[in-house]
Amino acid sequence: MRRSFARGVLSVVGRDSGRQPDHAALLSALPVPVVLLDATNRVRYANHAAEQFLGLSLAQLAQHVLTDLIAADSPLLRLIEVVRESELTISDHDLTLEGPRLHKQGITVQGSPLPEEPGAVLLVLQDASAARALDRQLTFRSAARSVTGMAAILAHEVKNPLSGIRGAAQLLESSVGEGDRELTVLIRDEADRIRALVDRMEIFGEKPIERQPVNIHRVLEHVRRLAQSGFAAHIRIHESYDPSLPPVLGNRDQLIQVLLNLVKNAAEAITAAGPPSGEITLTTGFQHGVRLAVPGSDQRLHLPLLVAVRDDGPGIPEDIRPNLFDPFVSSKPSGSGLGLALVAKIVADHGGLIEVDSRPGRTEFRLHLPVIHEDAGGL
Ligand SMILES: Nc1ncnc2c1ncn2[C@@H]1O[C@H](COP(=O)(O)OP(=O)(O)OP(=O)(O)O)[C@@H](O)[C@H]1O
Ligand SMILES: [Mg+2]
Repeated sequence: MRRSFARGVLSVVGRDSGRQPDHAALLSALPVPVVLLDATNRVRYANHAAEQFLGLSLAQLAQHVLTDLIAADSPLLRLIEVVRESELTISDHDLTLEGPRLHKQGITVQGSPLPEEPGAVLLVLQDASAARALDRQLTFRSAARSVTGMAAILAHEVKNPLSGIRGAAQLLESSVGEGDRELTVLIRDEADRIRALVDRMEIFGEKPIERQPVNIHRVLEHVRRLAQSGFAAHIRIHESYDPSLPPVLGNRDQLIQVLLNLVKNAAEAITAAGPPSGEITLTTGFQHGVRLAVPGSDQRLHLPLLVAVRDDGPGIPEDIRPNLFDPFVSSKPSGSGLGLALVAKIVADHGGLIEVDSRPGRTEFRLHLPVIHEDAGGL
């Protein structure tokens, strides 16, 4: 079985192509990138998923050796050498693949020798980042539940005495001398800041959300206008929308909050970096047929609506990446670290998923959301 499979693969770009077309069709249909290298690391075959993964067509790939596509010191090249030497199937996880057109992190690679083709190596690549994002989301849901309790306590126990403190400071303001007035204003302003913080925390409550069909482009347009008339006045916002998108079943105000937080973070990253960065790109799209497996269960999520917010700022600091969506994680001197925690909570409440790709000069947050009628999206 395995031998004839190998011969079929080789024949796809080999001289006897057409003799065993079934194998090519089979491999093309696989959603997992599969690449076959000959003994000199020349690409002999790449299936459809691999073409997309590597960003080149099979005809273009066939003109390349692997070292044209990935850095010469890549751990993938070491793995291939070990496969050739040991003639065993070798796997490696969490690889970073960098090259002129390739920037992928968290890739699982399996390399296998082909017994009848000395030196040939069959690579199966898997992008684990979507699965990991989902994993984090599921962890986040339980973390969010403990935050929920905390938010309720804060709302009850802090807000009332706080308004007392604020009122007392306001009363004092009219009776104290000029020198002390500064202090009463400080008390009032700080009380307002705590109140704003508590208000933001309240969204963590378990209140069911009201949902209706929402046109995501209207939401984006609203967010863009808010941003350009305020915190992102100096930043160019580029839009790349798929106008045929069906509506999302969601809460308009909360979706605005999600996108506003993402655009605000992008603007803050750009501002902190200064020139030459300075562009935010908002993208929407419809992903046909992509289903995400939920780790540890048989569940498959179909979240065809994609909304992405990209910036060309310095990227997310390495040290906070593992806990990026947790509350109170921030690298900003006056940041509360609640923005992304709220984003993750709202996206989870909508039955969606958020993932992030970040490197210097390119940070992208991608929301995957369900649509109301899949048929409306042309599935
Ligand atoms: N587009 C981005 N580029 C670079 N870093 C980012 C980006 N988005 C988020 N971050 C990092 O993630 C951290 C957490 O973001 P989050 O929105 O949760 O909190 P914050 O922006 O610091 O504070 P808040 O949103 O509550 O005002 C940020 O402090 C920043 O370090
Ligand atoms: Mg923020």
